[in-house]
Amino acid sequence: MCGEARSGTVPARVVGTVDRPIRRGMDPVSVAADRFQRRQGPPRVWPMRPVDTDLLKAYVLKVWRYKQGEVVSLMIHLGDRLGLYRAMAGGEEMTSDQLAEQTGYSERWVREWLLGQAAAGLVTRSPEARYSLEAEAERVLVEENTLAFAAGAFIGGFHPDRIDEMAEAFRTGLGVTYEDMGLPVARQMDRMNGPWVGDYLITTVLPSLDGLVEKLEGGAEVADVGCGGGISVRAMAERFPSSTVVGYEPSAHAVARAQRRVGGLANASVRQARGEELPLDARYDLVLTLDCMHDVPFPDRVASAIRRCLKEDGVWLIKDMKCSDVFEENLRNPMLAMQYGYSVSACLLSAASAEDAAALGTLGLPPAVAERIARKAGFNSLRVIRLEDDPTHLYYEVRP
Ligand SMILES: C[S@@+](CC[C@H](N)C(=O)[O-])C[C@H]1O[C@@H](n2cnc3c(N)ncnc32)[C@H](O)[C@@H]1O
Repeated sequence: MCGEARSGTVPARVVGTVDRPIRRGMDPVSVAADRFQRRQGPPRVWPMRPVDTDLLKAYVLKVWRYKQGEVVSLMIHLGDRLGLYRAMAGGEEMTSDQLAEQTGYSERWVREWLLGQAAAGLVTRSPEARYSLEAEAERVLVEENTLAFAAGAFIGGFHPDRIDEMAEAFRTGLGVTYEDMGLPVARQMDRMNGPWVGDYLITTVLPSLDGLVEKLEGGAEVADVGCGGGISVRAMAERFPSSTVVGYEPSAHAVARAQRRVGGLANASVRQARGEELPLDARYDLVLTLDCMHDVPFPDRVASAIRRCLKEDGVWLIKDMKCSDVFEENLRNPMLAMQYGYSVSACLLSAASAEDAAALGTLGLPPAVAERIARKAGFNSLRVIRLEDDPTHLYYEVRP
């Protein structure tokens, strides 16, 4: 907490050490924050500057809008988790009584949630207090296998231990692996990325590479590095039964999910291994790294391992975030601040999870960096593919 001190006639603010005991009953996040504050040393003092009151009001509103986003995000998580959106699918208008009866929940709680959803513009409310989901809302909040689906990204906040890990990373510079981030993150990754690495990969991404689909149909050897929960491994093995697909993934949580997912498919398997541990002989026709290279601590080593295990006429497909190495150009991205937040809370954590790591982070693999890494690993050609209906990613077709 901040204290106040006086320096001359100008009020001054004090932050830093307020050596108060950790109160019993404080939540774990506050306890950790308190401990961090107490480590910070002597308080800093500075004069309070005059402000423009209109700008101040606008800034206050801007900050509280982020707080509103945090709280509404939690409500979206509850709507998804409790099946409230699913119960409203189909577009039928319903009262809070009807939704409560259909879901078996308490009407008072359902009503409060509905009012908040209407206030947030996420559900429609008639003057008679009947609520409905527009078709577009249904796509985004219920239709799990469409590209528009977003509810899976709302996990209801972070476990206090994970927030501690982030805070600790600022102090030590060291992050944690995806495995250490735990099962909820592996689950979130599947639900967030699922449609993009499943159907979309098959129908749109793979056909955008020269001659690749024909090769896969004829029977090819495929490695999916950092395959997470194995959605892409399964999708490729099912679509190309003559090909063999092997997923490599270091996180035990993701591997367990992936192995369950590909179980029963004779041409698919998943191994717990890092990209650095790929086979040493040139056996693969296609290697994929989907949303992975900016997360690995040593992208140069993974790129070299990929070069080694790829046949001379093989191809490495990289899917990574659409970004530039010029910050001002990235400002065109309306979700830029969220992506930096994702970096601190997941991608950079993973990318900095070892001493001397490259620590790329969410927006760390723009074309110039991808090209440098590919060239250094011995690749001679890199084509950037921009897909019209994917506003978030760039695809790189990399060949020896
Ligand atoms: C953002 S997830 C993407 C997972 C999946 N490909 C997808 O698109 O949903 C990044 C994955 O990279 C994996 N990863 C991290 N370091 C790695 C390494 N050195 N080699 C291979 N994979 C790694 C993480 O465990 C994580 O599952």
